[in-house]
Amino acid sequence: MNIINVAKRVKRDIIKFLFKHLNNKFRVWMWRKMGVKIGENCRIHCFSLSPESYLIEIGNDVIITENVYLITHEGSICLFHNENPHMDLFGTIKIGNNCFIGMNSLIMPNTTIGNNCIIGAGSIVRGKIPDNSVAIGNPARVIMTTEKYRSKIYANPILHDYKLLSEEEKKRILLERFAANKKP
Ligand SMILES: CC(C)(COP(=O)(O)OP(=O)(O)OC[C@H]1O[C@@H](n2cnc3c(N)ncnc32)[C@H](O)[C@@H]1OP(=O)(O)O)[C@@H](O)C(=O)NCCC(=O)NCCS
Repeated sequence: MNIINVAKRVKRDIIKFLFKHLNNKFRVWMWRKMGVKIGENCRIHCFSLSPESYLIEIGNDVIITENVYLITHEGSICLFHNENPHMDLFGTIKIGNNCFIGMNSLIMPNTTIGNNCIIGAGSIVRGKIPDNSVAIGNPARVIMTTEKYRSKIYANPILHDYKLLSEEEKKRILLERFAANKKP
Protein backbone atom coordinates (compact mmCIF):
# COMPACT_ATOMS: atom_id res chain seq x y z
CA MET A 1 0.00 0.00 0.00
CA ASN A 2 1.60 3.32 -1.00
CA ILE A 3 1.62 6.51 1.08
CA ILE A 4 -1.19 8.13 -0.94
CA ASN A 5 -3.52 5.22 -0.27
CA VAL A 6 -2.64 5.27 3.44
CA ALA A 7 -3.35 9.02 3.56
CA LYS A 8 -6.68 8.50 1.77
CA ARG A 9 -7.63 5.78 4.22
CA VAL A 10 -6.70 7.92 7.26
CA LYS A 11 -8.72 10.84 5.85
CA ARG A 12 -11.70 8.57 5.29
CA ASP A 13 -11.43 7.14 8.81
CA ILE A 14 -11.29 10.65 10.33
CA ILE A 15 -14.35 11.72 8.31
CA LYS A 16 -16.14 8.52 9.33
CA PHE A 17 -15.35 9.15 13.02
CA LEU A 18 -16.57 12.77 12.84
CA PHE A 19 -19.62 11.68 10.90
CA LYS A 20 -20.61 9.16 13.55
CA HIS A 21 -19.93 11.37 16.57
CA LEU A 22 -21.04 14.82 15.49
CA ASN A 23 -24.67 15.86 15.31
CA ASN A 24 -27.22 15.48 12.56
CA LYS A 25 -26.76 19.05 11.30
CA PHE A 26 -23.12 18.23 10.59
CA ARG A 27 -24.04 14.97 8.84
CA VAL A 28 -26.56 16.69 6.57
CA TRP A 29 -24.07 19.47 5.86
CA MET A 30 -21.47 16.87 4.97
CA TRP A 31 -23.76 14.99 2.61
CA ARG A 32 -24.54 18.27 0.89
CA LYS A 33 -20.80 19.03 0.65
CA MET A 34 -20.34 15.61 -0.92
CA GLY A 35 -22.83 16.63 -3.59
CA VAL A 36 -26.04 14.99 -2.42
CA LYS A 37 -29.06 17.14 -3.18
CA ILE A 38 -30.87 16.95 0.12
CA GLY A 39 -34.00 18.73 1.34
CA GLU A 40 -34.94 20.17 4.71
CA ASN A 41 -35.48 18.46 8.05
CA CYS A 42 -33.72 15.21 7.16
CA ARG A 43 -32.03 12.86 9.64
CA ILE A 44 -29.00 10.97 8.40
CA HIS A 45 -27.54 8.24 10.60
CA CYS A 46 -25.27 6.45 8.16
CA PHE A 47 -21.97 7.04 6.47
CA SER A 48 -22.38 6.35 2.79
CA LEU A 49 -19.68 8.03 0.80
CA SER A 50 -19.67 7.51 -2.93
CA PRO A 51 -17.59 9.70 -5.25
CA GLU A 52 -20.70 10.17 -7.40
CA SER A 53 -22.87 11.47 -4.54
CA TYR A 54 -24.15 14.16 -6.92
CA LEU A 55 -26.31 11.41 -8.45
CA ILE A 56 -28.34 11.21 -5.21
CA GLU A 57 -31.41 13.33 -4.57
CA ILE A 58 -33.28 13.25 -1.27
CA GLY A 59 -36.46 15.18 -0.46
CA ASN A 60 -37.62 16.83 2.77
CA ASP A 61 -38.31 15.02 6.07
CA VAL A 62 -36.37 11.88 5.20
CA ILE A 63 -34.82 9.57 7.81
CA ILE A 64 -31.96 7.36 6.72
CA THR A 65 -31.04 4.99 9.55
CA GLU A 66 -27.76 3.29 10.40
CA ASN A 67 -25.79 1.15 7.97
CA VAL A 68 -27.79 2.14 4.92
CA TYR A 69 -25.80 2.25 1.69
CA LEU A 70 -26.78 4.38 -1.28
CA ILE A 71 -24.96 2.78 -4.20
CA THR A 72 -24.53 4.74 -7.43
CA HIS A 73 -21.69 2.76 -8.97
CA GLU A 74 -22.05 -0.52 -10.89
CA GLY A 75 -18.67 -1.87 -9.78
CA SER A 76 -19.32 -5.35 -11.16
CA ILE A 77 -18.36 -4.28 -14.69
CA CYS A 78 -14.70 -4.52 -13.64
CA LEU A 79 -15.03 -8.13 -14.80
CA PHE A 80 -14.93 -6.79 -18.37
CA HIS A 81 -12.11 -4.30 -17.88
CA ASN A 82 -9.80 -6.62 -19.79
CA GLU A 83 -11.91 -5.70 -22.84
CA ASN A 84 -12.09 -1.97 -22.04
CA PRO A 85 -10.28 -0.80 -18.90
CA HIS A 86 -11.79 2.72 -19.10
CA MET A 87 -15.48 2.01 -19.04
CA ASP A 88 -17.65 2.60 -16.00
CA LEU A 89 -21.36 2.57 -15.20
CA PHE A 90 -23.48 4.61 -12.80
CA GLY A 91 -27.11 5.07 -11.79
CA THR A 92 -29.11 7.70 -9.96
CA ILE A 93 -30.99 7.43 -6.67
CA LYS A 94 -33.99 9.55 -5.85
CA ILE A 95 -35.82 9.44 -2.52
CA GLY A 96 -39.00 11.51 -2.20
CA ASN A 97 -40.35 13.52 0.72
CA ASN A 98 -41.27 12.04 4.09
CA CYS A 99 -39.56 8.66 3.78
CA PHE A 100 -37.96 6.26 6.25
CA ILE A 101 -35.17 3.92 5.15
CA GLY A 102 -34.76 1.03 7.63
CA MET A 103 -31.47 -0.17 9.04
CA ASN A 104 -29.00 -2.11 6.90
CA SER A 105 -30.81 -1.41 3.64
CA LEU A 106 -29.09 -1.11 0.29
CA ILE A 107 -30.44 1.38 -2.20
CA MET A 108 -29.12 0.31 -5.58
CA PRO A 109 -28.36 2.43 -8.68
CA ASN A 110 -31.37 3.49 -10.79
CA THR A 111 -33.80 3.58 -7.91
CA THR A 112 -36.63 5.99 -7.26
CA ILE A 113 -38.48 5.84 -3.97
CA GLY A 114 -41.65 7.91 -3.97
CA ASN A 115 -43.07 10.23 -1.31
CA ASN A 116 -44.28 8.88 2.07
CA CYS A 117 -42.52 5.51 1.75
CA ILE A 118 -41.14 3.14 4.37
CA ILE A 119 -38.35 0.76 3.43
CA GLY A 120 -38.13 -2.14 5.89
CA ALA A 121 -34.89 -3.00 7.67
CA GLY A 122 -32.44 -5.02 5.62
CA SER A 123 -34.11 -4.39 2.27
CA ILE A 124 -32.39 -4.28 -1.09
CA VAL A 125 -34.16 -1.75 -3.26
CA ARG A 126 -33.79 -1.40 -7.02
CA GLY A 127 -36.21 0.24 -9.45
CA LYS A 128 -39.32 2.19 -8.60
CA ILE A 129 -41.19 2.19 -5.29
CA PRO A 130 -44.46 4.12 -5.76
CA ASP A 131 -45.63 6.93 -3.44
CA ASN A 132 -47.22 5.90 -0.13
CA SER A 133 -45.78 2.37 -0.01
CA VAL A 134 -44.21 0.13 2.61
CA ALA A 135 -41.64 -2.08 0.86
CA ILE A 136 -39.49 -4.86 2.32
CA GLY A 137 -37.10 -7.64 1.43
CA ASN A 138 -34.68 -8.61 -1.29
CA PRO A 139 -35.67 -7.57 -3.87
CA ALA A 140 -37.84 -5.04 -2.02
CA ARG A 141 -41.53 -5.46 -2.80
CA VAL A 142 -44.47 -3.34 -1.71
CA ILE A 143 -46.43 -5.14 1.05
CA MET A 144 -48.94 -2.45 2.00
CA THR A 145 -49.76 1.22 1.76
CA THR A 146 -48.33 3.65 4.25
CA GLU A 147 -51.92 4.44 5.25
CA LYS A 148 -52.55 0.77 6.15
CA TYR A 149 -49.33 0.72 8.19
CA ARG A 150 -50.51 3.88 9.97
CA SER A 151 -53.73 2.12 11.01
CA LYS A 152 -51.66 -0.86 12.26
CA ILE A 153 -49.52 1.46 14.38
CA TYR A 154 -52.56 3.13 15.99
CA ALA A 155 -54.06 -0.30 16.79
CA ASN A 156 -50.90 -1.43 18.60
CA PRO A 157 -51.48 -1.51 22.39
CA ILE A 158 -47.81 -0.74 23.11
CA LEU A 159 -48.11 2.68 21.39
CA HIS A 160 -47.63 5.57 23.83
CA ASP A 161 -46.12 9.08 23.98
CA TYR A 162 -42.79 7.64 25.21
CA LYS A 163 -40.86 10.64 23.96
CA LEU A 164 -42.42 12.77 26.70
CA LEU A 165 -41.09 10.46 29.44
CA SER A 166 -37.81 10.18 31.30
CA GLU A 167 -35.76 7.05 30.58
CA GLU A 168 -36.82 5.64 33.98
CA GLU A 169 -40.53 6.19 33.35
CA LYS A 170 -40.22 4.77 29.87
CA LYS A 171 -38.51 1.64 31.21
CA ARG A 172 -41.21 1.13 33.86
CA ILE A 173 -44.08 1.52 31.39
CA LEU A 174 -42.49 -0.70 28.77
CA LEU A 175 -41.75 -3.50 31.24
CA GLU A 176 -45.31 -3.30 32.59
CA ARG A 177 -46.84 -3.40 29.11
CA PHE A 178 -44.76 -6.28 27.84
CA ALA A 179 -45.42 -8.22 31.06
CA ALA A 180 -49.18 -7.60 30.62
CA ASN A 181 -48.98 -8.83 27.02
CA LYS A 182 -47.47 -12.12 28.20
CA LYS A 183 -50.41 -12.93 30.54
CA PRO A 184 -52.69 -15.67 29.12
C1 LIG B 1 -41.31 -2.81 7.40
C2 LIG B 1 -41.90 -2.60 8.79
C3 LIG B 1 -42.20 -1.11 8.98
C4 LIG B 1 -43.18 -3.42 8.84
O1 LIG B 1 -43.72 -3.35 10.11
P1 LIG B 1 -45.01 -4.26 10.48
O2 LIG B 1 -46.10 -4.04 9.48
O3 LIG B 1 -45.34 -4.01 11.90
O4 LIG B 1 -44.40 -5.68 10.26
P2 LIG B 1 -44.91 -7.08 10.75
O5 LIG B 1 -44.03 -7.49 11.87
O6 LIG B 1 -46.40 -7.09 10.97
O7 LIG B 1 -44.56 -7.97 9.47
C5 LIG B 1 -45.41 -8.10 8.35
C6 LIG B 1 -44.73 -9.14 7.42
O8 LIG B 1 -43.57 -8.56 6.83
C7 LIG B 1 -42.38 -9.28 7.23
N1 LIG B 1 -41.38 -8.25 7.51
C8 LIG B 1 -41.51 -7.18 8.32
N2 LIG B 1 -40.41 -6.43 8.26
C9 LIG B 1 -39.58 -7.04 7.41
C10 LIG B 1 -38.28 -6.72 6.94
N3 LIG B 1 -37.65 -5.62 7.35
N4 LIG B 1 -37.71 -7.54 6.04
C11 LIG B 1 -38.34 -8.66 5.61
N5 LIG B 1 -39.59 -9.00 6.02
C12 LIG B 1 -40.18 -8.20 6.92
C13 LIG B 1 -42.80 -10.07 8.46
O9 LIG B 1 -41.98 -11.21 8.60
C14 LIG B 1 -44.23 -10.38 8.14
O10 LIG B 1 -44.27 -11.44 7.21
P3 LIG B 1 -45.47 -12.52 7.20
O11 LIG B 1 -46.72 -11.72 6.91
O12 LIG B 1 -45.10 -13.44 6.11
O13 LIG B 1 -45.48 -13.11 8.56
C15 LIG B 1 -40.91 -3.03 9.90
O14 LIG B 1 -40.85 -4.44 10.03
C16 LIG B 1 -39.48 -2.53 9.70
O15 LIG B 1 -38.65 -3.15 9.02
N6 LIG B 1 -39.19 -1.34 10.32
C17 LIG B 1 -37.90 -0.70 10.25
C18 LIG B 1 -37.14 -0.92 11.56
C19 LIG B 1 -35.84 -0.16 11.59
O16 LIG B 1 -35.08 -0.15 10.64
N7 LIG B 1 -35.59 0.51 12.68
C20 LIG B 1 -34.46 1.34 12.82
C21 LIG B 1 -34.53 2.03 14.14
S1 LIG B 1 -33.76 3.60 14.07
